Amino acid sequence: MTGKILVTGALGNVGSEVVRLLLASGADIRVADRSLEKIRACFGETVDAVVFDFQDRNTYPAAFTGVDTLFLMRPPQISDVRNIMFPALDAARGVGVRHVVFLSLIGIEQAKFVPHYKVEEYLVHSPMTWTFLRCSFFMQNLNTTHRQEIRERSEIFVPTGRARTSFIDVRDIAAVAALALQQPGHENKAYDLTGGEALDYWQAAGVLSEVLGRTITYRNPSPVQFLIRHMRQGTPFIFALVMTGLYLSTRNGMAEPVTGEVERLTGRKPRTFRQYVQDYASVWS
Ligand SMILES: NC(=O)c1ccc[n+]([C@@H]2O[C@H](COP(=O)([O-])OP(=O)(O)OC[C@H]3O[C@@H](n4cnc5c(N)ncnc54)[C@H](OP(=O)(O)O)[C@@H]3O)[C@@H](O)[C@H]2O)c1
Repeated sequence: MTGKILVTGALGNVGSEVVRLLLASGADIRVADRSLEKIRACFGETVDAVVFDFQDRNTYPAAFTGVDTLFLMRPPQISDVRNIMFPALDAARGVGVRHVVFLSLIGIEQAKFVPHYKVEEYLVHSPMTWTFLRCSFFMQNLNTTHRQEIRERSEIFVPTGRARTSFIDVRDIAAVAALALQQPGHENKAYDLTGGEALDYWQAAGVLSEVLGRTITYRNPSPVQFLIRHMRQGTPFIFALVMTGLYLSTRNGMAEPVTGEVERLTGRKPRTFRQYVQDYASVWS
């Protein structure tokens, strides 16, 4: 595949790693997110950067014109994808975008109510080709959503019971994305991406404790306790509800399967949870 690549959500967990890899490989890219200032601070003054907001159609032409391939992520705040994301995809298609690599969720085939399902369906029925990266839980949730509880209270507070999670490092997702954005052969394919092992949260807390040199405890709250804690902390209700729902499916064993897709596609093993904790250790200090 040749031509310009547009990366949406470029300041996010996955998007920022995608941009780093594409810049390192010399690809022709345009970096899109809601703040030009932050893009410049992150990727420098010379990168082709554009303000892009799914909710502002005026930002579409500058973002999509001249673009061949799109890295698409659904911002977690957007649930009405039909009215907010489909117009952007229509605009992309209208100016000649040919291929879309979409950051999706593992198990999405069975979750018709989840926004990603609708985006996948849109793409399957569009004339554009697509690659779906159906990812397991990000390791990086622990240094973002759960950072404060680990850093300040030395605990992990998720309602997953004894179930295991095949955590994946976003850097491995980005490696697969970079291939699908730059090489032919990934058109109209869906990849289930996981890490190389599934851990329960006692094991995850154990690795954190060993690497950080202090005890991190897995609290194992009930789903209701989890929801209440997040409401009290000021997490928006819908967001807290979605998180609870996702952790409920984990609790039922949905996040346990391990696939070999990262290694098959990139030729190297996915990062382990221990490697991830070592690389991010300063975040919880
Ligand atoms: N976390 C997981 O375990 C997991 C697993 C599988 C799939 N996923 C999916 O991955 C996606 C999230 O990826 P991520 O973690 O890389 O994202 P992220 O870190 O949450 O970053 C989202 C980025 O999108 C930007 N953004 C917000 N609203 C926007 C809008 N209206 N238009 C354009 N950009 C906007 C944000 O900018 P601001 O900073 O200005 O808000 C931010 O830079 C979600 O769809 C999620 O469901 C997550």
